[in-house]
Amino acid sequence: MFNTLSGAGFLFTLLQLSITCISSQTQLEGTLHRRNYFYIGEKYDNTPGTNNGSEIAFAQMYVEHLVPANVTRPLPILMIHGHGMTGTNFLNTPDGKLGWADYFMSEGFEIYIIDQPSRGRSAWQMDIDGDQSDFDATYISSHFTAVEQFNLWPQAVLHTQWPGNGTAGDPIFDNFYASTMPSLVSDKESSIKVKKAVGELLDNIGPVVLLTHSQSGQYGWILGDSRPSLIKTIIALEPIGPPFINAVFPPLTSARPFGLTEIPVVYSPPISSPSDLETEIVPSLSNSSLGTTCFHQAAPARQMINLKEIPTLVVTSESSYHTIYDACTVEYLAQAGVPVTHVQLANVGIKGNAHMMFMEKNGLEIAEKVVLSWIQKTMQ
Ligand SMILES: *[C@@H]1O[C@H](CO)[C@@H](O)[C@H](O)[C@H]1NC(C)=O
Ligand SMILES: *[C@@H]1O[C@H](CO)[C@@H](O)[C@H](O)[C@H]1NC(C)=O
Ligand SMILES: *[C@@H]1O[C@H](CO)[C@@H](O)[C@H](O)[C@H]1NC(C)=O
Ligand SMILES: *[C@@H]1O[C@H](CO)[C@@H](O)[C@H](O)[C@H]1NC(C)=O
Repeated sequence: MFNTLSGAGFLFTLLQLSITCISSQTQLEGTLHRRNYFYIGEKYDNTPGTNNGSEIAFAQMYVEHLVPANVTRPLPILMIHGHGMTGTNFLNTPDGKLGWADYFMSEGFEIYIIDQPSRGRSAWQMDIDGDQSDFDATYISSHFTAVEQFNLWPQAVLHTQWPGNGTAGDPIFDNFYASTMPSLVSDKESSIKVKKAVGELLDNIGPVVLLTHSQSGQYGWILGDSRPSLIKTIIALEPIGPPFINAVFPPLTSARPFGLTEIPVVYSPPISSPSDLETEIVPSLSNSSLGTTCFHQAAPARQMINLKEIPTLVVTSESSYHTIYDACTVEYLAQAGVPVTHVQLANVGIKGNAHMMFMEKNGLEIAEKVVLSWIQKTMQ
């Protein structure tokens, strides 16, 4: 009798739980779709840790493929997340709302989402893959989610769009922070791995609309360079920059020796080493009190010829640290012959976003008014 009663109590709790889940699901209004996943890019290697001549796979990349019931667009969107992140960035928001994947599926697009090699659901292999590092919670709060409380750059005070207070203890922040992952320290190593794995993916699924964010901004230029016919447009949300140097947060060390990338891209006339790129400072886009020096090429600028046919959009929010230097990245692209458009969200009436704009309160407004309208305009 006792057992039966407690069984009934348990059932009741389950029912209550499922009612709670259903009511939060009804807010989601997800898009009916089919999901598949697969891995691509793996190699085999015999490491000191493996036994009897057997091997382990490494360099593989997790790919998630989402197909809405009603596909009405000719090209899929391939979404690549930034440093410390995984593909979950685009699935739904940390406060449980519809994410960009659902939004674009509801607009008829097939979606591909990846976890970068050596990150998240893509294996990091001891003794093969390089060192990893983590973002700590204060870094995430001060740079992404609660920038207005830290004021590390002047525009940070304008930030209003993160749901919740953006610091540890807030359930939305905690949910987001828990989704961040150890990442390869070396952007060069990451670039080499992404170029190979995403290159193979593009050979299988291309052409695509490529959406990049932050760290993956440089992969956009690398992939456009290596697979120009398979990328019809690049949408770069606050791509890593500026050219040749780290900015805003000391130490302002040199970086991205090929201009916007850690690994070579094709220039015309060709270069045999990064030192062939002659640079000069653009004073109007530099400001030492903001911690940024803008470099472009001395005239005549070598052209990034493989990107010349790829319409490119750079999107910058109002209150991210990228607002200080994305114009310099755009200037570098334009000077190198890339057909680039820069949308600063504040100039199109979208205020108060920081670096994680797509998961902020008005994220779907950015998806619709900026990204979708760009795709429609560019792809006809
Ligand atoms: C390796 O091979 C030896 C000899 O055949 C065998 O005794 C041992 O169990 C093997 N080890 C593993 C991990 O398979
Ligand atoms: C698919 O989408 C198109 C364009 O939005 C619409 O006209 C059509 O009715 C949709 N079909 C189904 C089965 O929902
Ligand atoms: C953020 O919200 C959490 C949960 O309500 C609270 O514990 C924390 O003190 C808040 N932090 C700030 C800086 O407001
Ligand atoms: C540099 O940035 C600071 C802080 O925003 C501003 O006060 C100053 O006018 C800027 N200097 C130039 C030369 O633009």
